[in-house]
Amino acid sequence: LDPILPCGQVAPDAGNGTECVAFHRSLFPKNFVFGTATAAYQVEGAANETGREPSIWDTFSRQPGKILDGKTGDVASDQFHRFLGDIELMVNMNVDAYRFSIAWPRIMKLGGTTPQVNQEGVAYYNNLINELLKRGIQPYVTLYHWDIPQSLYEAYGAWIDSKVVNDYAQYAETCFAAFGDRVKHWITFNEPKSFTVLGYGNGIHAPGRCSDRNICPAGNSATEPYIAAHNVLLAHAAAVDVYKKKFKAVQGGVVGISVDAEWAEPLNDSAADKEAAERHLLFQLGWFLDPIYRGDYPAVMRTYVGDRLPVFAPSEVALLNGSLDFVGLNHYTSRLISNGTRPENLLTSDNWQDQGVVSSVSRNGTQIGNQAASEWLYIVPWGIGKTLVWLTERYQNPQIFVTENGMDDLDDENSSKPAESFLNDVNRISFYENYMSSVLDAIKNGSDVRGYFAWSMLDNFEWAMGYTRRFGLIYVDYNNSQQRRLKESAKWFSRFLTRAM
Ligand code: NOJ
Repeated sequence: LDPILPCGQVAPDAGNGTECVAFHRSLFPKNFVFGTATAAYQVEGAANETGREPSIWDTFSRQPGKILDGKTGDVASDQFHRFLGDIELMVNMNVDAYRFSIAWPRIMKLGGTTPQVNQEGVAYYNNLINELLKRGIQPYVTLYHWDIPQSLYEAYGAWIDSKVVNDYAQYAETCFAAFGDRVKHWITFNEPKSFTVLGYGNGIHAPGRCSDRNICPAGNSATEPYIAAHNVLLAHAAAVDVYKKKFKAVQGGVVGISVDAEWAEPLNDSAADKEAAERHLLFQLGWFLDPIYRGDYPAVMRTYVGDRLPVFAPSEVALLNGSLDFVGLNHYTSRLISNGTRPENLLTSDNWQDQGVVSSVSRNGTQIGNQAASEWLYIVPWGIGKTLVWLTERYQNPQIFVTENGMDDLDDENSSKPAESFLNDVNRISFYENYMSSVLDAIKNGSDVRGYFAWSMLDNFEWAMGYTRRFGLIYVDYNNSQQRRLKESAKWFSRFLTRAM
């Protein structure tokens, strides 16, 4: 890939037609980190190699009807076998960092009588990390991106039981000990709202439990997502405690959590709608960040959820306090929010029924943005800047990394659309330009944003949607041994990231 300079740096006498990019990384602060992101179950494959044990996603994806195209992550994008080539591609894309997740069931052997560290699994991540560093790419490591060992689900229901707190802390400690000499950025959890609500509220994700009265035939008022989320917070605090006590002084890394939110714009300029929009943000971001930064769940959640929302003991509040070095934000879309009760028949991926809000995508016939392939993904660039500023104001200016942002294109269930229909992804290029400009606006408004990760480095297994949604900057040919081809957006990214000479 030829480096192309930002327009401001092209010599005036370079001649007409000299290519340049108007939007360039030099517009961002000097040490701003740019990277791409993935997650283990979505890209690794090699489900049965290194003695990896099954996770809840191996089990769930095998249940008929759960995954749109009936496929699993057994092979996925095959990054396990192709990480050297993938790192080469990342070098060509000029990224500073790669955010990936470690598969818990590859690291811990829980099947036997006493839990053991799986050295073969550790070796894989050592190779990955060492190669990244050798090529000048910093690893940003997510410890949990939704693949808890199936054995822990069978033992006690996984996140629903507080026993998970110790098991998670032990797993996290294993990772800090094995990789922390080289990994300086840790993310304890990816999108706790998503995996607790989708996994325990409406059953769309693993482990497929459904406790939401509006969706599940036998459901009542959804309780399990709140219990699961509570255990996630305690597990986060326990892991960070271990890091601080045993590793931080020597290793000098930082720990964050990646929360996800759509921006909530009030539908009407009324006090009721403004409060509803704020409530929607608190149910997404405040649910996890308020206990850490402010000592308890948002008061409004207590009002709306009542005694289904667990209570923190004083010792737990103390442990959560100060347990974050940075906030990771995964952001994709925005909604217009009004006060009210959500229609019963709305298939939802969120715990709306508890929030007293109604969500919509158009006002006076004008849609909030164009839709990408995923039904929930409306393209609203200004939403990311507003979300960042909201975080800045509510939590006293924390360090923030955008740990995911991106859009998808639609494939069919056999991945049989021609590659060519995905490669010239001009929409994705404008998506990135426009969303990143909004990040820049937030920085100018005082947000302490330190980095930005595009989701995703390459096409991969999009959970319940299987391989029918392609989020990658790089195309993966699933019908031709997972061969990679650069989309135009990947080439754009490499130009955007070219360091000025
Ligand atoms: C959020 C999740 O973290 C990631 O796994 C998923 O693929 C993307 N969003 C797109 O839906």
